Amino acid sequence: MAMATSEAILRVLSGSLLPRLHHSDLSSKNSNSLHAIKANVNNTSDKRPVSMRLLKSCRRVYALQCRGGVFDGKTDVSRVESIGCKCQKAESVSGVTAEDHNETWFIGREASGPSVPVNGTSIGPSTEEFEMGEQLKHENGGLVTNGEPAATGTIKDTSDTGRVNLIEDEAWNLLRASIVYYCNNPIGTIAANDPSSSSILNYDQVFIRDFIPSGIAFLLKGEYDIVRNFILYTLQLQSWEKTMDCHSPGQGLMPASFKVRTVPLDGDDSATEDVLDPDFGEAAIGRVAPVDSGLWWIILLRAYGKCSGDLSVQERVDVQTGIKMILKLCLADGFDMFPTLLVTDGSCMIDRRMGIHGHPLEIQALFYSALLCAREMLAPEDASADLIRALNNRLVALSFHIREYYWIDMRKLNEIYRYQTEEYSFDAVNKFNIYPDQIPSWLVEFMPSKGGYLIGNLQPAHMDFRIFSLGNLWSIVSSLATPDQSHAILDLIEAKWAQLVADMPLKICYPALEGQEWRIITGSDPKNTPWSYHNGGSWPTLLWQLTVACIKMDRPEIALKAVEVAERRISGDKWPEYYDTKRGKFIGKQARLYQTWSIAGYLVSKLLLANPSAAKILVNEEDSELANAFSFMISGNPRRKRGQKRRSFIV
Ligand code: GLC
Repeated sequence: MAMATSEAILRVLSGSLLPRLHHSDLSSKNSNSLHAIKANVNNTSDKRPVSMRLLKSCRRVYALQCRGGVFDGKTDVSRVESIGCKCQKAESVSGVTAEDHNETWFIGREASGPSVPVNGTSIGPSTEEFEMGEQLKHENGGLVTNGEPAATGTIKDTSDTGRVNLIEDEAWNLLRASIVYYCNNPIGTIAANDPSSSSILNYDQVFIRDFIPSGIAFLLKGEYDIVRNFILYTLQLQSWEKTMDCHSPGQGLMPASFKVRTVPLDGDDSATEDVLDPDFGEAAIGRVAPVDSGLWWIILLRAYGKCSGDLSVQERVDVQTGIKMILKLCLADGFDMFPTLLVTDGSCMIDRRMGIHGHPLEIQALFYSALLCAREMLAPEDASADLIRALNNRLVALSFHIREYYWIDMRKLNEIYRYQTEEYSFDAVNKFNIYPDQIPSWLVEFMPSKGGYLIGNLQPAHMDFRIFSLGNLWSIVSSLATPDQSHAILDLIEAKWAQLVADMPLKICYPALEGQEWRIITGSDPKNTPWSYHNGGSWPTLLWQLTVACIKMDRPEIALKAVEVAERRISGDKWPEYYDTKRGKFIGKQARLYQTWSIAGYLVSKLLLANPSAAKILVNEEDSELANAFSFMISGNPRRKRGQKRRSFIV
């Protein structure tokens, strides 16, 4: 075979080696836009118990607003002002399948009352739970279990196991108290339930990304309804026509968060209805679109199917269309030369200015994972062939790009140190014209001889050498990193424990931006001061991603050790959102307490460490065809073939 360029190999591979499905016209669903989802939740003239009135009758009603027809995932629906989910006297409530194209679309299941026993536990808003929630809200004493508060920072049970059990019990109680109901169905968890905080900001909303660990915890516990509801309701929000100063983003965007508001019902003073109000970033600080939301949604959808065994959700026409809309948005052609997704600053967990605009690793890892998950779930039909081809092309190109150009270890660092610059040609080694002077002094000291990591971002003449934890961990989970790279990332975490884990797992990024760099890059953001919040703060929620990564690489002992570190303080500190200082010593300056994803992240870690095989609902194993493609491309990479003449390659 002639010496091939990576691009040429890509074309060959995408046309032959990789699995094919078929093409569809994705435009059909795209014309609908929903402006609100409503549910009648209370009618004071109806004297039946609330549970009977509400749960018997929740249903989606499209007729009110859908001018163009029925919303069935197939039919064109013209843009509408609002979509209602009114609690009416429907006799039964059931899910809809791909075959179900009736005018009403039901969410939930057979009416079963607000307290649905699952695994012997009630997940509904029972009186006890509301009382518990209230008690939790008003306790300042740290550990609260079954209504029994402990003194601040102290734990009654002296035995370690007993202490840990109490922490877990408390976490479950808090997680259940954070559940948000819509039309009396659990549909998500509130971001934070901090009674001490006077400014709620948007922490009273259900964030898509924050719900992922909650959803996984519920799945692992066998409580599937909340996840199913979350997936289906957020899917409906996907079509909302979001505008910002008269401009709308591409369809397929999932909101960053949503809120359930109870409002008076039009024309009926005695009744109220629930309205789902999404925020696509138009109300968020910086007005940034949450690129990660749709990617997380796909990842959760696959996890739901794998864990519950219920594939009917992913097979639904509207869900299939939702997946395709997200993919279409991500795979749309633009001006890009790179296979990585080009996004603005703040488009993911770090949702304000932190200098991550461009091609941040976190988004690329989630993108890769979502592409693999979607490929598994997309129904094989002629109509999807083009989309699948585009998806496969992207998978190959993306993994090559990240593995080759984002990877850094001692060897690579030395190579960059000796880079020639201003190379103009196809066989340039320093493809992005990186000037060796860019290597930061901290990195020279920091880089261990064993270990490495994927850098935060790559742009022309710019490598962001900061270590971003989520991006690295999810690269392991999704197999975006090679097995060797994955082990090396974990080696690095072990070698640099004092910097990355220290007194609270895990640093969101390392190191912090300081001084002039902080001023220029964050815009002097007082919330992102050095070693605080997104700027080198420690986020307990990252424990769950660390755990999945460690289990995948068969090194659970690293996660176990990190969980033990967290267990020393997290409950006594009231489950903060993040910690400050280089070692994560202080509860974050502006951190919320009782932050749900800190609680859920801990629970997911515990559940997975107790049952490591369950991690497979999140893991993407290395695809052998992708691995082959990667080795082909590696052998054609000029970096390894310096001096060889570039030969033309005809596809
Ligand atoms: C902060 C975090 C963001 C999170 C939100 C709600 O804004 O940066 O990632 O989703 O809080 O917890």
